[in-house]
Amino acid sequence: MMKLFDLAPAITPHKAPRTRVFKWKHVPPLACLFALYFGPKLWRARQERHEASEDTRPSTHAFRWSDIIPSAKLEFQDCHDNLQCARLEVPLDYSEPDAFPRVALAVIRRPAKVPVTSAFYGGAVITNPGGPGGSRVQQQLMMGGYLQDLYDAEREPKSALITDRYFDVVSFDPRGINHTTPTISCFPDNASRERWNLQWEAEGILGSSNHSLRMNWRRATALAEGCSRMLSTNGTHALAEHMNTTPIAADVMSLVEALGEWRQREAQRLIAAGSVSDSEATEFSRLAWQKGRERLQYHGFSWGTILGSTIAAMYPARIERMVLDGVVDTDDYYGGTWKQNLADTDKILDQFMHLCHEAGPSRCVFWRQGGPNAISDAYEQLLVDIQDDPLAVPGTQSRGPEVITWTDVKLLVKDAVYQPLHGFQAMAEMMQDVTHGNGSRFADYKHFHRKTLCHTSTPCEVPFSHECILPGWSPFDALPAILCTDAEDAGAFTESDFRSYWEDLRNQSRAMGDYWAATRLTCAAWQATAKWRFGGPFTGNTSHPLLYIGNTYDTVTPFRNAMKMAASFPGSGLLRQDTAGHCSFTSPSLCTGKAVRRYFQEGLVPEPGAVCQTDSKPFEMSTGLPEAARTADHMLLQTMVEASRAFGTTYAVEMKT
Ligand SMILES: *[C@@H]1O[C@H](CO)[C@@H](O)[C@H](O)[C@H]1NC(C)=O
Ligand SMILES: *[C@@H]1O[C@H](CO)[C@@H](O)[C@H](O)[C@H]1NC(C)=O
Ligand SMILES: *[C@@H]1O[C@H](CO)[C@@H](O)[C@H](O)[C@H]1NC(C)=O
Ligand SMILES: *[C@@H]1O[C@H](CO)[C@@H](O)[C@H](O)[C@H]1NC(C)=O
Ligand SMILES: *[C@@H]1O[C@H](CO)[C@@H](O)[C@H](O)[C@H]1NC(C)=O
Ligand SMILES: *[C@@H]1O[C@H](CO)[C@@H](O)[C@H](O)[C@H]1NC(C)=O
Ligand SMILES: *[C@@H]1O[C@H](CO)[C@@H](O)[C@H](O)[C@H]1NC(C)=O
Repeated sequence: MMKLFDLAPAITPHKAPRTRVFKWKHVPPLACLFALYFGPKLWRARQERHEASEDTRPSTHAFRWSDIIPSAKLEFQDCHDNLQCARLEVPLDYSEPDAFPRVALAVIRRPAKVPVTSAFYGGAVITNPGGPGGSRVQQQLMMGGYLQDLYDAEREPKSALITDRYFDVVSFDPRGINHTTPTISCFPDNASRERWNLQWEAEGILGSSNHSLRMNWRRATALAEGCSRMLSTNGTHALAEHMNTTPIAADVMSLVEALGEWRQREAQRLIAAGSVSDSEATEFSRLAWQKGRERLQYHGFSWGTILGSTIAAMYPARIERMVLDGVVDTDDYYGGTWKQNLADTDKILDQFMHLCHEAGPSRCVFWRQGGPNAISDAYEQLLVDIQDDPLAVPGTQSRGPEVITWTDVKLLVKDAVYQPLHGFQAMAEMMQDVTHGNGSRFADYKHFHRKTLCHTSTPCEVPFSHECILPGWSPFDALPAILCTDAEDAGAFTESDFRSYWEDLRNQSRAMGDYWAATRLTCAAWQATAKWRFGGPFTGNTSHPLLYIGNTYDTVTPFRNAMKMAASFPGSGLLRQDTAGHCSFTSPSLCTGKAVRRYFQEGLVPEPGAVCQTDSKPFEMSTGLPEAARTADHMLLQTMVEASRAFGTTYAVEMKT
């Protein structure tokens, strides 16, 4: 994993590399929608920062995206230790494909373990981490290796069976995001964004006080109005009209075509170089670019399932493989209400109470005599107490003073229900400390996850330039641009409408209702509308069955969404992973790993009613198989464990609004 961070020192010389700021706590109520899984992760942060700090050696080949010249074909060059990067030109406006300006997608590829000319080459799998606004380049850096091990055959290529396949894993930053240009930013530089985030954090989320609604609304308005207006002018090429999911779906298919062209070219290059045997050469027809008919292999999480279902509806004949995990309901999402997310969230909070009770006081420090109800009462009392009286935490030699607020505790809980496996333990510890008036661990935690604001000898000079925005680019700027133009009339509501909506969500979930309701506020003043918007229906007879995956209790994408979407695409497989948290990767499962691998290798979906158990539980540290299990199973489970760990960090980008 460490090698993934090579680039950071080159970009951010002033701070510890792992810029992956775990903004867990600050995750803005607005935005984050499905991204929400950003926040969590935190639990590993300390350890990773430590690892990363060993990685501060100066980079010899400081790779910079801006050094690559965008082109209409994929021209890969080496980047980031054994990866390949390219910038692919696609139209900004698909109704005027030849017009300028154009979008240059930052594309990153983890090469397959075999050359494209090999009989075992399985093509490219394109991944999306969700968000909207998550950086796929980031995901590739963080997770690509584990995903590839998951998709690939269990044997090494040298002992491959005839049916074994090995895949390229390809990701890209969607339009507006991170290294894709033009990049969206609502702030002229990273420091002004950071100051805004700190204010937001201090003022508190919806429900934190009696004036929280007005304050959150005004902040959302200030941000959205200015940002959407700037993005709607010529200066930024009216980017705001072209940020929604429909053109992103078209971008994915542009990338699929470009990969087909590249595959043919790469095969020709290998032949010309004489590195292909005659018998392989006879099979070249299968490597030829099927212009206009190239098929997609895709793996999407959370909002990435919206992208996937949209592609499947728009291009049903172009699907080769599609795994959609943490499934969003397209009707609810495009309808702009986002009301179908919290159906099971409080069941996860209830699990905390039960698992803590079962774990006992030695493993769950928030344990209370009197069973789950007593633990629940202590939790509610803590919230009441801290709202009335925040906790002062004196500064120390390593950090400044802090105050722990109701908002902090709510965000801690939110993150824990996203990722119970690691989050429950941390939640129990910090809540227990706070109950006893000791906020030092919580304060360290807040401090650690905060972005370093340091003086720099090279201040940014041109506001909104890439130099001023990166590093520190915030996916939260892209998020409303996508959400608010995907939904029709997302911003059309009055204060009283909103109050009843908020109450509704609070009724759905005491754990997350306040937080989630703010998503909708994000769009209250968003001024732009999408120029091209696929209106459904979100159904289709796809050229290959899709595979939908949902957890029994998912934080923001309840299992019933997966059932509904699977039914919309006849023939789809549906797998339930019997766990709690957001997306199956939140908790490692050998069984799920096998199902996903089998789907990519053989194309087979699980039997109807399939359920997978996971191999670890909150408050229990052991993960494991019987010694006697197959070596390949041990290896796959290890891959799932590491993918699960990396999954959290993938989203731990800075996200605040
Ligand atoms: C943008 O990409 C860089 C890698 O070049 C990564 O370090 C950074 O975290 C990414 N930003 C986000 C928000 O993912
Ligand atoms: C909000 O106002 C009500 C009365 O108007 C008061 O009882 C309540 O304590 C206030 N809540 C907060 C969080 O200030
Ligand atoms: C900029 O906007 C003006 C007026 O809105 C329009 O006439 C012009 O064509 C636009 N230019 C570009 C490059 O889009
Ligand atoms: C507060 O809790 C931390 C552990 O989180 C502990 O190290 C410290 O001693 C405690 N402080 C006091 C005053 O009890
Ligand atoms: C903003 O980016 C500059 C480099 O352009 C960097 O020196 C500075 O530390 C960053 N500040 C924050 C708050 O990320
Ligand atoms: C929320 O629940 C309360 C109490 O059950 C009920 O009175 C109220 O009508 C509900 N509000 C909404 C918007 O459903
Ligand atoms: C899928 O195929 C079935 C049977 O051939 C047909 O009835 C149905 O209309 C098709 N659905 C779509 C969305 O094309």
